[in-house]
Amino acid sequence: MGRHRQDRRHQIGMMENFMNTLDLKPLQPFAAQATGIDLREPLTPTQLKAIEDAMDQHAVLVFRNQALTQSQQIAFAKSLGPLDMGLRKLKGGAHRLEFAELADISNVKVDGEVADRQHAKIVGNVANQLWHSDSSFQKPRAKYSMLSAVTVPDFGGETEFADLRLAWDALPKWRQLQVQDLRAIHYALHSRFLLGDTQYTEEQRNAIPPAVWPLVQTDPRTGRKILFVGIHACEIEGMTVAEGRMLILDLMEHATQREFVYQHHWQEGDLVMWDNTATIHRGRWFDFAERRELRRATTEEVPV
Ligand code: OGA
Ligand code: MN
Repeated sequence: MGRHRQDRRHQIGMMENFMNTLDLKPLQPFAAQATGIDLREPLTPTQLKAIEDAMDQHAVLVFRNQALTQSQQIAFAKSLGPLDMGLRKLKGGAHRLEFAELADISNVKVDGEVADRQHAKIVGNVANQLWHSDSSFQKPRAKYSMLSAVTVPDFGGETEFADLRLAWDALPKWRQLQVQDLRAIHYALHSRFLLGDTQYTEEQRNAIPPAVWPLVQTDPRTGRKILFVGIHACEIEGMTVAEGRMLILDLMEHATQREFVYQHHWQEGDLVMWDNTATIHRGRWFDFAERRELRRATTEEVPV
């Protein structure tokens, strides 16, 4: 091969490399906007590692203009771990999407029309507006959620994220000492009951037994401490229900102060990925008469 050809090859190689490398622009106070990787394509081990490392650091990554097909979204999620089904195994029923593993985060019915406010599906939309960590009510719980925006409303419908590591770091010492050995009980239907959604059979109520998680955890990947709270936590072991709930509410209020929150304004084609073991999130108000359609793929946490 001639010298010139070789140089050219080298240049193209460098460019490809450059084009397939994760670039991060920090977003306040902890997330990052990620560019440089095309999520529609199978990712190399190097790219996957770059994403995991970025998640360790930022806990939320925002990819713009990555309108994935459903199978591309599934493939991307599967490359990061086994998939989680969340509450869908309890509800069953008709599913609008091509894969049972994709959560239909929308106010759209199976027939493609926007659901009216009385429709059972809307309760799920409202429940998502309470601060939570996906699937914290089960073991294994969710690790990464990857949410892709298909249709966004003209106004509202943002998603907010709070960093539970910042929350731990900012707790006053007395509180850290008070909570460091406590364990919370997380129950799948607690948030539904709070919203008056109580039409569940005994069998459904018992289908997902509560999961117990330490309130304070150490991330095995980063060594950082995490204040693991969220709306699925309904009791603290060894405390009265009242005192336990009050503590959970206090800790959630602390964790979701504005200075620990990143608010994402959706554009169609955005994919936002978050670490459920290090953050909690919630949707914000939008007019349920407007169409809002997102799809979520979620991985399970794999114990290390
Ligand atoms: C979710 C979720 C919030 C939103 O997809 O897990 O909680 O803003 N979404 O739709
Ligand atoms: Mn969620």
